[in-house]
Amino acid sequence: MIEATERTNIMVVDDTPANLKLLQKMLQSKGYRVLAFLDGEKALNAAAQSPPDLIFLDIKMPVMNGFEVCERLKADAELRDIPVIFISALAETADKVKAFAAGGVDYVTKPFQFEEVNARVETHLRLRRQQIELQRQQIELQTLNDMKNHFLGMAAHDLRTPLGAIMGITELLADQLSPLLTEKQSSFFDMLLSSSKFMIGLINDLLDTSAIESGYLTIERWMVDISVPIKRSVEINGMFASLKNISIAISCQEKLPDVFADINRIEQVINNLLSNAIKYSQPGTDIAVHLRHENNEVIISVADQGPGIPEKEQHKLFQAFGKTSVLPTSKNDRSTGLGLLIVKKIMEAHGGRIWLLSEPGKGTEFFFSLPVMP
Ligand SMILES: Nc1ncnc2c1ncn2[C@@H]1O[C@H](COP(=O)(O)OP(=O)(O)OP(=O)(O)O)[C@@H](O)[C@H]1O
Ligand SMILES: [Mg+2]
Repeated sequence: MIEATERTNIMVVDDTPANLKLLQKMLQSKGYRVLAFLDGEKALNAAAQSPPDLIFLDIKMPVMNGFEVCERLKADAELRDIPVIFISALAETADKVKAFAAGGVDYVTKPFQFEEVNARVETHLRLRRQQIELQRQQIELQTLNDMKNHFLGMAAHDLRTPLGAIMGITELLADQLSPLLTEKQSSFFDMLLSSSKFMIGLINDLLDTSAIESGYLTIERWMVDISVPIKRSVEINGMFASLKNISIAISCQEKLPDVFADINRIEQVINNLLSNAIKYSQPGTDIAVHLRHENNEVIISVADQGPGIPEKEQHKLFQAFGKTSVLPTSKNDRSTGLGLLIVKKIMEAHGGRIWLLSEPGKGTEFFFSLPVMP
């Protein structure tokens, strides 16, 4: 049972003094502090000064009726969560329905039944307290999440600088010492370089993720020919693909209109889709990239002949660390589950879309689109 305390304030608004008195007495006998008002305007002013925990509101009042008072309460961010119980006469079913539509949580009928009024008050005070507790927990979670993002961003940022130095020096040493190195030593340098590259990629993804989660993903947009970053990405990824005996073909329907986009971010999008297509496909398969202009959008698709993604797992794709049962086909490839989340957020920041068609056993086709300015 909810304990009624002196600190639990209940406002009662009714233009009939007898009703007001009766309800006031009932509530006071349960230990609540009651603030009684004969008209809505005064009640609203008092609520704004000191918001009560619950409000009883008569429907039919001469100056401002209960629905109007409720509407004004719901329009005020400070007052909108206070539960409102309407007071209605037994026969007025239409009014009761309207009361819920106006934002009321409940109603009591005249003549008042003491036990019923009390049960409804206790229920709505309990629900309100649960709601306040939930809001408090949400704020706490949000604060913790912000702290996590801040930490993630700082850690990733601080790791990137020394790692960049390690990679640069390794490259320099490998270059200068190359005439003296045995084959095995050279392969050690290759391993050092590929591991550093992988780590820098991961750190950049973590930085992007923390920026996305805190709402600070930056994009710099210009009117650009989108085929430029796409072709560049196909060329670079084509080299990695050929190591796996996978070919990437690119086709373009026509001369595409320029789009308002961040060319580096779009390259990041296509890089992620191509690296996935390569990573999750078997050697000897093909990848097709296609660009077209359709219904005020430029649409880019990446189709692979990989294993496909089971439909019931597809909801995980665009979540942070959302991996599916589809694993990389080479044990040298690593999977973090951040790539598609970043891709989706970049597309959202461009006012674009991303979607896929996938058939297990046949392959997956990812599409992303950018709006074309009229
Ligand atoms: N073309 C694809 N074919 C089959 N499965 C895919 C394909 N692309 C993505 N997936 C599945 O979706 C998951 C999420 O992909 P996502 O790119 O977000 O992360 P990742 O590739 O695991 O890691 P990274 O953060 O390095 O990109 C992958 O782990 C994989 O299970
Ligand atoms: Mg990926």
